[in-house]
Amino acid sequence: MIIAMGNDHSAVELKQEIKAYVEGKGYQVVDFGTNSTESCDYPVYGEKVGRAVAAGEADLGILICGTGVGISLAANKIKGIRACVCSEPFSAKLSRMHNNTNILAFGARVVGSELAKMIVDQWLEAEFEGGRHQRRVDMLTRLEER
Ligand code: RB5
Repeated sequence: MIIAMGNDHSAVELKQEIKAYVEGKGYQVVDFGTNSTESCDYPVYGEKVGRAVAAGEADLGILICGTGVGISLAANKIKGIRACVCSEPFSAKLSRMHNNTNILAFGARVVGSELAKMIVDQWLEAEFEGGRHQRRVDMLTRLEER
């Protein structure tokens, strides 16, 4: 499975730690940057990862900025993307099971690295349940068409 990762300047260190963690679990990571701590604009990286996931070049995406909010907003502008900001593992897990999220976002200024790893674990290990949730996700998809 290929995971696209992206982040802004506020999250370089956490991205590198989470990237190594995810690779250690056997996932292939495509790193869209930034790997510089020089101030940059989070929409650039939210868009890169969003487009890679929407195009099927990556199966899932992980985005990190200061709060996870701005970079997830950017990704959610891309058709087919369902990105969620999660600061705890329960919402991360349910976001896969019920909402079939394809991008996980969190904030380097919000969560520490150990909590971030728990969030990532729960999100990656959960599976979409389909059924009534598929109908609701389909409704989200139709919103993109209107
Ligand atoms: C950058 O200072 C900060 O605004 C950004 O990382 C993010 O938190 C925005 O949502």
